Amino acid sequence: MALYPVPVSSSHYVIQGGRPLEGEVAVSGSKNAALYTLPAALLTSEPVTLRNVPRIADIRELAEICEAVGSTVEIEGDTVRMHTPRITSTVPPADLIARLRASFLLMGALIGRVGEAECPPPGGDVIGSRPLDVHFAGFRALGATVDRHGASWRATAPRLTGARIFFDYPSVLGTVNVLFAAVRAEGTTVIVNAAPEPEVEMLADMLVSMGASITGQGSPVITVQGGVDLHGTDFTVIPDRLEVGTYLLAGVATRGDVRVTNAQPAHLDSLLAKLREMDVQVDVDEAGVRVHDAEILRPVQVQAVPYPGFATDLHPPMAAALTQAAGVSMVHERVYDNRTLYVNELRKLGARITTAADIVLIEGPTKLSGANVRALDIRAGAAVVVAALAAEGETVLGDIHHLDRGYADLQERLTALGARIERR
Ligand code: EPU
Repeated sequence: MALYPVPVSSSHYVIQGGRPLEGEVAVSGSKNAALYTLPAALLTSEPVTLRNVPRIADIRELAEICEAVGSTVEIEGDTVRMHTPRITSTVPPADLIARLRASFLLMGALIGRVGEAECPPPGGDVIGSRPLDVHFAGFRALGATVDRHGASWRATAPRLTGARIFFDYPSVLGTVNVLFAAVRAEGTTVIVNAAPEPEVEMLADMLVSMGASITGQGSPVITVQGGVDLHGTDFTVIPDRLEVGTYLLAGVATRGDVRVTNAQPAHLDSLLAKLREMDVQVDVDEAGVRVHDAEILRPVQVQAVPYPGFATDLHPPMAAALTQAAGVSMVHERVYDNRTLYVNELRKLGARITTAADIVLIEGPTKLSGANVRALDIRAGAAVVVAALAAEGETVLGDIHHLDRGYADLQERLTALGARIERR
């Protein structure tokens, strides 16, 4: 596998904050959407080219997993070329699967390609209980047998048949996994209460570009006419709406003037509505969003819920920005039951922020000051970066391997906006 350099995980960021961010930055392809495209490429024996893939650690790890089951993966800049003439193993290595959450998509991809798979529970951020029941219910409805085999889950499906499936919860990866199996199932599959996230919609579009027949993607009801052999594709990943959101929130928290390009503003309605409610000037055009003139910020109430509601992954950086609003803001986390660990790190920077169950209360405006803090997961890391940029003085941010997993070229992009951030 051709790889790009891996940053050293023991390094940390040193941020000199208290300066408004100013300028323009282009975001990369969506981390999560890109993570779905590599397992999707396993569904065909023909070559697949993926473009606008972010240069992040999670992609490298997933490429390694795909190679372990028979794929050849070449990464050159933001282009990934994959070719999987045949699957050589249906048991991807447990230590690799444990490294990230999206690795569990090997389950659906292998069931879809060869009718069997064995995977241990996946890794991923520690942000709450993350069950897999939706995935298994979907596989079973299509005719697969799923059982425990030691510490792993094993699925066998000599034959898959389309079915009408109701999801108890609109799980994002659950929807993707079941789509992988459904495109190979004979007949019609209807998934009711599917995840409507733009990343899932894009994945379905990629499968269509490979010859699948899918309608309803982007809505809660997706219909698949299965049983076709998929062919290769040349496919471009959508922009990362969470990266866009993070840079906009950094602009707001520092009272800056930031324009983010390569964005799809239509994926950011919930965030942009809240920013306007906070009295931030938000300008939107086809390819970009600008935030500016955020003088006195109003406090707001945010519900973190599935798409198109406010994204749970933007909850932590939003809370960081709300430390600068004049009054008490509230964020109600309704997706994960343990997403609020970042709160302690923000307190170290001087934030007045408290939690009760899934509710976070933030009192502002607060003059934050630099401190030693940690990135506890990808988005908790984004929260402390936003707060550190707003804080006077020096912040030393450790455990930044979490940020490397999700934010490509973070230091370069923030530097382009005038931030003083060094990796040491
Ligand atoms: N859930 C169930 N049953 C299931 C699966 C999930 O009840 O079978 C519940 C979970 O308990 C949780 C909620 O559904 O409360 C959300 O889980 P979901 O399955 O939708 O999340 P995921 O697919 O594991 C993806 C993203 C996450 C993002 C969530 C929600 C990837 C690789 N991960 O995870 O992204 O937070 O959707 O939008 O796509 C991140 O990028 O930082 C990140 C954590």
